[in-house]
Amino acid sequence: MAVSLGLEDVFIKYTGLTFIDGNAGVLRYRGYDINDLVQNTGFEEVCYLMTNGELPNSQQLAEFKKSVKEHYKLPDHVMELISDLPREADTLTMMETAFASLSSGDYQWNKENDRKQVPKILGENLGIISNIYRHKMGMGLQNPDPKYDYAEAFLRNCFGNADEKKISAMNAALVIYVDHEVPASTTAALVASSTLSDMYSCITAATAALKGPLHGGAAEAAYKQLLDIGNVDNVENWFKTNILDGKRRLMGFGHRVYRTYDPRMKIFKKLATTLEQTDEQKKLFEIAVKLEELGVKEFGGKGIYPNTDYYSGIVFNEIGFPIYMFTTLFGFSRVLGWLSHITEYVEEEERLIRPRAVYTGPDKRDFVKIQDRK
Ligand code: CMC
Repeated sequence: MAVSLGLEDVFIKYTGLTFIDGNAGVLRYRGYDINDLVQNTGFEEVCYLMTNGELPNSQQLAEFKKSVKEHYKLPDHVMELISDLPREADTLTMMETAFASLSSGDYQWNKENDRKQVPKILGENLGIISNIYRHKMGMGLQNPDPKYDYAEAFLRNCFGNADEKKISAMNAALVIYVDHEVPASTTAALVASSTLSDMYSCITAATAALKGPLHGGAAEAAYKQLLDIGNVDNVENWFKTNILDGKRRLMGFGHRVYRTYDPRMKIFKKLATTLEQTDEQKKLFEIAVKLEELGVKEFGGKGIYPNTDYYSGIVFNEIGFPIYMFTTLFGFSRVLGWLSHITEYVEEEERLIRPRAVYTGPDKRDFVKIQDRK
């Protein structure tokens, strides 16, 4: 019996959320091209679009923003929980813990009300991720200021200030990472939601799947590669030793769906040069460009091209974030994609996800009591 390892090319749901053409390098949310959304919308507009199916008018957007801002303030027990975690803990582990603690345990899915939870969870998300950063940095925890929209409130709660370029880059990063159909983390969220588990628990399950270097952790791994190379003159030698001869994977390259350039990667590459760069950041960018050339030359023929995580770490670092935040920043945005997919699934399909496994173990055996075993 054939098994689809990795569920490759298995379609597990219908969706009106995200369209990907992996051969042409196209990504759309609800029919809108990712480039148009990044250039013309803020994160909250995309949140409204994903949640309600249409772009909001000005009044709808203002009301949506207000309902998110009402939940910027985290419950005290979540603040206490984050500040009690060891500061050296992984930021994704902190994210899992904080979301799990918001689960009431007696949640009932309700088609009339599920989407109304989205602004609340987005508001809490902002409080959680910005306070994870504050805790890691040894700063006291504080609630985001509802005077500001999402991206700005986030940066201000992390850094105390935010300039226009950084707010715009943060907005773009948030929009870029919103959704990507059903990668491992979204599938994990769907599996949990298909049992009618609550939304917070679904986010916790998704966060666990996001953590690994083959998924969300790739931005961190790709950035560490650049640090390891250290100098643009060392790129060719490093590539030969590690990738060609060492048979290591080039991180930030390859994708299960794209067989060409990931359109999100192109946006991040451009963003990296629109932000101010220190000499060190300039150097890492140059290394990345040179490494991209070698990678495409070697692997492009096999349909392996740079993906969204290739340049995103550089952009996150230019905004001001250290490496340990990269995967969590991906999750910060993707919470919206997870919520969009689980509400869509429970509302439209509501079928328990329960695949099968082909048994390859021993045939029936006679039981041997412990005293008779050799
Ligand atoms: N570097 C070198 N070779 C690669 C790479 C890579 N990054 N990715 C795939 N290959 C090769 C692989 O060795 C295999 O070669 P062969 O057929 O000769 O054995 C072939 O391509 C197919 O690989 P696969 O692992 O079966 O393909 P997949 O569809 O499972 O891979 C992937 C998808 C993302 C896991 C893989 O490309 C990879 O490990 N990339 C590096 C990690 C990374 O950047 N992940 C971020 C993905 S995008 C953001 C996200 O979704 O989170």
